[in-house]
Amino acid sequence: MTVISVVGARPNFMKIAPFCRALKKHPEIRHILVHTGQHYDVRMSDSFFADLAIPAPDIHLNVGSGSHAAQVGKTMIEFEKVVRAENPDWIVVVGDVNATCACSIVAKKEHVGLAHIEAGLRSNDIDMPEEVNRLVTDRLSDLLLTPDRISLDNLRREGVPENRIAFVGNIMIDTLEEQRAEAASRDLTALVGREALEKRPLPPLADDAFAVMTMHRPSNVDDPAILSKMVDFLTEKVAADMPLLWPIHPRAKKQLELFGLWEKVREKIIPLNPLGYHDMLRLNMTAKVMLTDSGGLQEECCVLGTPCLTMRRNTERPVTLQEHGGVSVLVGNDIAKIETAYRDALFFRRRPMRPELWDGKTAERIVRAILEFRR
Ligand code: UD1
Repeated sequence: MTVISVVGARPNFMKIAPFCRALKKHPEIRHILVHTGQHYDVRMSDSFFADLAIPAPDIHLNVGSGSHAAQVGKTMIEFEKVVRAENPDWIVVVGDVNATCACSIVAKKEHVGLAHIEAGLRSNDIDMPEEVNRLVTDRLSDLLLTPDRISLDNLRREGVPENRIAFVGNIMIDTLEEQRAEAASRDLTALVGREALEKRPLPPLADDAFAVMTMHRPSNVDDPAILSKMVDFLTEKVAADMPLLWPIHPRAKKQLELFGLWEKVREKIIPLNPLGYHDMLRLNMTAKVMLTDSGGLQEECCVLGTPCLTMRRNTERPVTLQEHGGVSVLVGNDIAKIETAYRDALFFRRRPMRPELWDGKTAERIVRAILEFRR
């Protein structure tokens, strides 16, 4: 059996690592790893392959940056050639990035079995590019591998036949469990000193006495009125209480510079390079509070118990929210709401929560589901 698996952007890498490892135990499976090249920087891509021991991609499509249509179009053209040359039995895609959607369309047009890891997530917000990618991918998939019961119910409600769905758990937690000890061994001050963008003396850093944020989604960083209000709150309130660390995504930095907000950020916040997997996990393990618009971080906060303010109007991962037993609160970009939730979060105690099957064994279940699937 030949399986092609696809990665394209940073949030895919921690999901594919355990899958590659699980496939290695099956010599009867020929595995080809394709990197579309949507993310291409050392910090956004290569460092994850090294840190998570992901084998070097067998094929690199070098698609690079561009508009959504350009990324999807280029990926489809290049991936079609790979599929025709390799004639796989299965194509496995992960998550919700442009690479996921582009390769799913090619898979079905070439009549190849398609499996989607992280199927069934829904924000019900079609303005998010990732929601478009999720809907297209799930509609086309033969095997839909869901991370939690809420996603399972979403698929049932949409009429997906039972024999095409497998509830396998969250594969990202396989990586978190594998890498936890290495992350915990990292020294906080050394890490921040190494990755700080501004080479100036740092304030003293201590566990449970610093905040971490990430923010890169179009809904937060593309409108100067919204972004400047967020920056005001973060610099004047959070950074005034404790050191605020911001590992900064290239698109967020570009927008801050464009809107004249970068000076304020670099003065009051501690901007960091995009971090490697272990460094980010290390910060998350002892942060007092996380402020983020990233989906993956919401899930990691859930398992680590870090109070999490999700700076979005909605989430495709409701299992992480307080109402489902998690630690995350949806605060959107409404400053009054963010401030109230932030003040509350300062009094929360770290409260780890592990949704069903987030047990570190998801990759094995996925391989079994693929082997047992009858089309
Ligand atoms: C993508 C995903 C998003 C995910 C995010 C995580 C889609 C639709 N979105 O968004 O779900 O949360 O990745 O990182 O696929 N850039 C670099 N170096 C890189 C990659 C990008 O500098 O290695 C810059 C480029 O100038 C680009 C911008 O960042 O214009 C945005 O990259 P892009 O791949 O378009 O999407 P993300 O916003 O990163």
